[in-house]
Amino acid sequence: MTDTAPRPAIRSRRRYYATLAGLGVAMVVMFTLVSYSVTLYRMFCEATGSGGYTQRADSTGGEALGREITVAFNTDVAPDLPWRFVPVQRQVKLRLGQETVVFFRAENLSDHDLVGHATFNVTPERVGIYFKKIECFCFTEERLGAHQSVEMPVDFFVDSRMGQDREDTDVHTVTLSYTFFNSKNPDGATDMARFDNRPPDAVAGEKVFATVCAACHGLDAAKEGPPLRTVFGRRAGSAPGYPYSAALKASGLTWNAASLQRWLASPQAAVPGAQMPYHLDDAVRRGDIIAYLKSLAPDAHAEASPATGKPPAKL
Ligand code: HEC
Repeated sequence: MTDTAPRPAIRSRRRYYATLAGLGVAMVVMFTLVSYSVTLYRMFCEATGSGGYTQRADSTGGEALGREITVAFNTDVAPDLPWRFVPVQRQVKLRLGQETVVFFRAENLSDHDLVGHATFNVTPERVGIYFKKIECFCFTEERLGAHQSVEMPVDFFVDSRMGQDREDTDVHTVTLSYTFFNSKNPDGATDMARFDNRPPDAVAGEKVFATVCAACHGLDAAKEGPPLRTVFGRRAGSAPGYPYSAALKASGLTWNAASLQRWLASPQAAVPGAQMPYHLDDAVRRGDIIAYLKSLAPDAHAEASPATGKPPAKL
C-alpha cells in the first residue's frame, strides 16, 4: 500500500497538467477562431455562396438562357455614414444566364469627402451561390466627394444552374440588398467620380440598351417602338411602316447626339405630344446608349468624332 499509494497521485497530477495544457491550447484556438470568426465566416460564405453571399465572375460564359425571374433591390446606409443610397430601379425581370446592368444612386450629404464600403446579401440565402457579379461598386472602397452624387452600375447575371436545382423551382423573386458602411480602410479607396467623368462608352451602352430599351425596341424589327439600328443620323419618325405619333413625324428633328440626349431625358419635353413612355435620368448612361446607337449607324466609322458623341454637361 505504502509503495503504491504515491504512484496514482503522480499519474493523476500529470493527467491534471496535461488536461490543463490541453484546455489552454483549446482556449487559444477558440479565442483565435472567435477573433477571426467574422473574416472566416465571410471567406467561407464568399467561397461557397452560402449565407446569401454572391459570387464574382468575369463573364456569363455564354450560357443558354433559362426561365424568367424577378430581381428586386434593397438599399440601406449605416447610421454613421451621411449618404443617401437608393436603387434606380426597384426591380428588373430577367432570364437566368442573362447579363444585366442595373444602377444605384449614392449621394454624400455631408460637407467633406467620405469613403464607404458596401456589403451585400441575397435572399433567399441559398440562391446566393447562383448570383454572379461581373462589375460592382461593392468590390472596392468608394470615395464620394462632399455633396457629390453618382449613379453606379452593377453588372450581374443569375446562373442558369439555379433553374436545374429542384429546390429552387419555386423561387421567382430574388432580392439583392446592399448596405453602405463608413469604411474602416479609407486608404486606397477609388473615387466614385470615375462613374461620371468618363467619355461615352458604346459597350456599356449596348448593355443598358439590352436592359432598358430592348423591351420596346428591336434593332431591325418594330416592337412597341420603331427599329433603331439606323436611327443615328435618321430623320425622326421615318422608319418605314411604323405607326409614329403625328407629333414625332412632324418634329423636323434629325437624330444626333444632342437631339437624342434631349429625347432620352424627356421625350415629351423634346417633342410635345410624342408617345415614348420612357425616359432615362442619367446623362452618362444616355451618352453610352447614344455612343452605341452611333456605332450601329451605317456611316459610324466615317464620322467618328469623339466631341459630338459627348453628352452635354447638364440637361
Ligand atoms: C415602354 C416602351 C419604350 C421604351 C422602354 C423605350 N422606347 Fe423608344 N420609343 C417608344 C415608342 C412607342 C416610340 C415612338 C414614339 C412616337 O411615335 O411618338 C419610341 C421612339 C423612339 C425613338 C425615335 C425613333 C424614330 O424613328 O424617330 C428613339 C430614338 C427611341 N425611341 C430610343 C429609345 C431608347 C434609346 C430607349 C432606351 C433608353 C427607349 N427608346 C426606350 C417606346 C419605348
